[in-house]
Amino acid sequence: VDGFEWNKIAGWLLACGLFIMGIMTLTDGIFHVPALEAKAYPIEGVEEAGAEGAAAVIEGPALAELLAVATAEKGASLYKRCATCHTINQGGANGTGPNLYGILGAKHAHIASFNYSDAMKAKAAEPWTWEAMDAWIKNPKAAIPKNKMSFAGISKAEDRAALLIYLNQNSANPLPLPAVPVKTEVAAAPAAEGAAAEAAPVADALAPAEAAPAAAQ
Ligand code: HEC
Repeated sequence: VDGFEWNKIAGWLLACGLFIMGIMTLTDGIFHVPALEAKAYPIEGVEEAGAEGAAAVIEGPALAELLAVATAEKGASLYKRCATCHTINQGGANGTGPNLYGILGAKHAHIASFNYSDAMKAKAAEPWTWEAMDAWIKNPKAAIPKNKMSFAGISKAEDRAALLIYLNQNSANPLPLPAVPVKTEVAAAPAAEGAAAEAAPVADALAPAEAAPAAAQ
C-alpha cells in the first residue's frame, strides 16, 4: 500500500466522519422529541383533571352518516324484534312495552297510561334524541340502568340506524336527520362544475379521458 492509497483511505475516513456528523445534526432537527406534555401511559384510575382525550375514541362512521344511508324498509323488518312488546301504529295499545308511535322527539316515558319503571320515569324531562335512542337500542341496560325492558340490544350500528329511521317514519312529527359531519377529503375534492351535479361529476370526469384517444386518432 503506497502513500497515495493511504491518502485515499484517510480521505474516505474523513468523508465518512463528516457524513455521520451531518446526519446526526440533521436527524436531531427532524426527530427532535419534545418533552411529553402528558404521561405517555396514563394509569387507569389515576385520572388527570380535564383530560378529555380518553373520550375521543373513533369507532366507525358517525350515527349521522349511518342514518343518511339507512332505509325504513330494513328498519321495518328489524322492528319485528320489538313488535312482540310494542305497537307502533298511532293510538296503538300498550303491550308489555308502551306504544311507540312518534317516539323520536317525544319525552322519555311518553305514554301516560303506561306503567314505566322509576328509572324511565326519572328521565321524563328528556326527549328521545337520535343519540339517546341509538344508545338505548344498542344496550338498554347500560343506557338507562334499572329500566324494565327485557331486550339485550342490537349491536350492529347499521341495523340500529335503520330501526331509527323506521321509528322516525312512524310519527306525526318526524325529527330532521342530523347533519353529516363534513369530511376533509370530501371538502378537498375538486368542486364539481354546477352545484346540482351530485353523481354526474364521476361520469363527467370519465368522459373527456375516454374521448381524448378517439380525438387523437
Ligand atoms: C320483551 C319486551 C320488549 C321488547 C322486545 C322491546 N321492548 Fe322496548 N320497552 C319494553 C318495556 C317493558 C319498556 C318500558 C321500560 C321501562 O319503563 O323501564 C320499554 C320501553 C321502550 C322505550 C321507551 C318508551 C318511552 O315511552 O319512553 C323505547 C323507545 C323502546 N322500548 C324501544 C324498543 C325498541 C326499538 C325495541 C326493539 C329493538 C324494543 N323496545 C324491544 C319492552 C320491550
